[in-house]
Amino acid sequence: MTSYHPAAVIILAAGEGTRMKSTTPKVLHRIGGRTLLGHALHAAREAAPEHLAVVVRHERERVAAHVGELDGTAVVADQDEVKGTGRACECGLDALPAGLEGTVLVTMGDVPLLTGRTLTELTERHEASGAAVTVITAELPDAGSYGRVVRDVDGDVVAIMEFKDALRHREAGDELAHVVDIREINSGIYAFDAAVLRAALTEVGTDNAQGEKYLTDVIGIARREGRRVAAHLVDDLWQTEGVNDRVQLAALGKELNRRTVEHWMREGVTVVDPDTTWIDADVTIGRDTTVRPGTQLLGATTVGAEVVVGPDTTLTDVEVGDGASVVRTQAELAQIGPGATVGPFSFLRPGTVLGARGKIGGFVETKNATIGEGAKVPHLTYCGDATVGEGANIGAGTIFANYDGVAKHHTSIGRHSFVGSNSVLVAPVDIADGAYVAAGSAIEGRVGPGQIAVARGRQRNVDGWVARRRAGTATAGAAEAALAGQGDGAPPTSPSPTSRPTPTQES
Ligand code: UD1
Ligand code: MG
Repeated sequence: MTSYHPAAVIILAAGEGTRMKSTTPKVLHRIGGRTLLGHALHAAREAAPEHLAVVVRHERERVAAHVGELDGTAVVADQDEVKGTGRACECGLDALPAGLEGTVLVTMGDVPLLTGRTLTELTERHEASGAAVTVITAELPDAGSYGRVVRDVDGDVVAIMEFKDALRHREAGDELAHVVDIREINSGIYAFDAAVLRAALTEVGTDNAQGEKYLTDVIGIARREGRRVAAHLVDDLWQTEGVNDRVQLAALGKELNRRTVEHWMREGVTVVDPDTTWIDADVTIGRDTTVRPGTQLLGATTVGAEVVVGPDTTLTDVEVGDGASVVRTQAELAQIGPGATVGPFSFLRPGTVLGARGKIGGFVETKNATIGEGAKVPHLTYCGDATVGEGANIGAGTIFANYDGVAKHHTSIGRHSFVGSNSVLVAPVDIADGAYVAAGSAIEGRVGPGQIAVARGRQRNVDGWVARRRAGTATAGAAEAALAGQGDGAPPTSPSPTSRPTPTQES
C-alpha cells in the first residue's frame, strides 16, 4: 500500500445527460452490475480519501438516495443554478470541512472504467512533483469534443481549452487557431492542491462559448500565479472515457466485461467463451471452476472452486458451493450447496436453498424452499414454500400446491422420506421423517413416520372389456392374440395392484 492518500475526492454528478434520452439520470444507468456512479464511488474509495463528496443537481433525490445506499459516509453536495464543472467543484468543496488542506481529486460520475489504482497513481505523481494541479490526459486519434491540452515550448501544460472555444479561435484565424488540432485531451480527472483550487475557483468567470463556470479555467489561473501544472498521460484510453449516450454505455459495458472475464481467467477460472460470458464487477469465482458459453454471473453472485456453470445459465445474487454443477439454469437469490447438481432447464427463484450434494433436476421450479443435504427433486416438479429433509426424494411431476388463491402455505417433508411421482401436496402438509407417499396421490393431511399415504383411485381390471366394447379394432386383435398365447385365457400375470411396491420414479 502506498502512503499517498488524498484529503478528498469530489465526484461531479450534477449533469443531466440529455443524450441518454432517459427518465433515469445518466449516472444511474448500469454496466457490470453497478451504476456508473457506483463505479466512480468504488474507484474513489479505493484511493482511500479522508473525505468523499458527490455533487448532485439533476434528479437530485434519486441520485442522492443512491449515494446513501452505496456509501453511507459520502457527503452529498448540492450544486446551485450556476452551471459548469467549475461551479460543481466549488459546491463540492463547500460541503467539505472549511480550510481543508492537501490533495483534492476531482472525478466524474460518468467515467466508469477509471480504477482506484489510477487515482492512487495520480495522487502519488501529483504529490511527488509538487505541482499545484495534475490533470490526467490522453492522446486520442480523434480528439472529438474534448477539452484540448495546451502546452508551451517546454512541454509544460499552460491551459485547457474547451472544444467550442478552440473552434472559435479556428474561425477567427488567430494565434490559437491550431489548438483545435491538438490530440492530447483533458480527461476531466484531476489532482489539485486544495488551497490553490479554492482560491482559483473564486476567480473563474463564465465568459466562454457555453456561458458556464469551467473547472478547466483553474489551470490557466494557477499558471498565471506561477504555479506548476503537470499532466499524467494515461495509455489506457478506456479509463478516461465517459458515457454520453447508450452506444457508449454498451461499448464501455462490453470492455468492462472483457476486463472482468480476463481477470477471472488469470485467477484460475476456465472461461470457455469469453465473448458470450458476462460477469458483473462484484462477482467472485473460485479456482478451477469452468464457465461454459452463454453464462451470466450477475449481482453479488459467488461461485466456489471446481464448479461447472453453464452453458446458458443466468445466476443473479446466487451462492454456489465448491464442486457444484449448474447447467442451463436461471436462478436468483438462491444458495446451491457444495457438490449439488442443478439443471438442465431449472428455475430457482428467491429463497431456494439446496443442501450439499442435493439435486434439482430438469424442468424443476423452486421458490422459498429449503432442500436438505443429499435430497433430490430430479424431474418436472414445482417446489414452493417447502422444507425437504435430508436424503428425501421427490418423484417426477410432484406439485407442491402452496397457494389456495388467498394465502401461501408451507409443506414440510421429513428426512429420507419418499414422495411418489405425480403427487400433489396440498399445503399446509406435513410429511414426517421416513414416510412414503404413493405415486399419484393428492395429499392433504399429515403422514406419520414409517407410514405410506395412498390417496388415489384404486386400480380395477375388467376382463373382456376390449373384446366387447372395441370389437374389430387392432387393439382387440392384439388382445385376442395375447390371450391365445397364454393358453388358459387368464388375465396377464401381474401382481395385484395393492401388493406391488409403490411405483415411483427412480432418479
Ligand atoms: C468536461 C471538460 C473537458 C473534458 C471533458 C472530459 C470542462 C469545462 N470541460 O467537458 O475539458 O475534456 O469534461 O469528459 O470541465 N457536471 C456537473 N455540473 C455541471 C456540469 C457538469 O456536475 O454544471 C458534471 C457532469 O455530471 C459530468 C462532468 O461534470 O459528470 C462533466 O460534465 P460535461 O458536461 O460532460 O463536461 P464536458 O463538456 O464533457
Ligand atoms: Mg462529457
